[in-house]
Amino acid sequence: QLNQKHMINLVLFGKPGAGKGTQAQFLKEKYNLKHISTGDVFRYNIKNGTELGTLAKSYIDKGDLVPDEVTIKMLEDEVDKNPDADGFIFDGFPRTTTQAEALDNFLESKDMKVDATIALEANDEILIERLLERGKVSGRSDDQDVTKIRNRFDEYNSKTAPLKEYYEDRKKFHSVNGIGTIEEITERLTKVIDSL
Ligand code: AP5
Repeated sequence: QLNQKHMINLVLFGKPGAGKGTQAQFLKEKYNLKHISTGDVFRYNIKNGTELGTLAKSYIDKGDLVPDEVTIKMLEDEVDKNPDADGFIFDGFPRTTTQAEALDNFLESKDMKVDATIALEANDEILIERLLERGKVSGRSDDQDVTKIRNRFDEYNSKTAPLKEYYEDRKKFHSVNGIGTIEEITERLTKVIDSL
């Protein structure tokens, strides 16, 4: 399309602790992309005591997903705040089929699209170890105990995992091994992105 912007929009996919936020920090520099982490936006709102933060907190503290309509609206606002971005890294969004459909429709209305969804794969034992370790220093309420972490995995398995098929059907799904050093994993992601 003539007026389609030359931009790249990536979805980073993976279970809690898979390394989405960590890798996004490197990828956003390398490809000059705007990083939007829905978890970070929620935590920012919780810290600042906004209405959105108060609502989200009750779900996040338990390790449950925040309702779709709230999350979708928030994500769209974040995209709209960055009209000049060369592209986006969506980290932690979409997490349900409803969110994925909303994202496709929203981007299409702006002449944009998701170019690729890249999943970081790692097993539960490693993920739990990483999250408990982070919980000690970050004080993140949802990292503090294994029951909450397991609930986040359950939410992922029931609501988020089906998105693999959603993006596979659209030939947009890629997965990389999420175990190794941070540099090794960045390298694996870079290979996928450069091949797009
Ligand atoms: P969110 O903030 O998205 O949390 P998450 O998905 O649980 O993801 P994490 O931040 O825990 O993991 P990550 O994959 O980013 O890993 P990271 O790089 O940090 O969401 C929190 C909550 O918000 C949700 O539970 C939900 O309630 C709500 N929410 C958010 N989005 C929503 C949505 N779309 N819909 C509804 N609700 C939503 O790494 C983890 C740790 O491992 C770090 O300490 C890191 O240093 C370490 N690490 C990373 N890579 C490596 C490595 N290669 N080797 C060793 N350690 C590593």
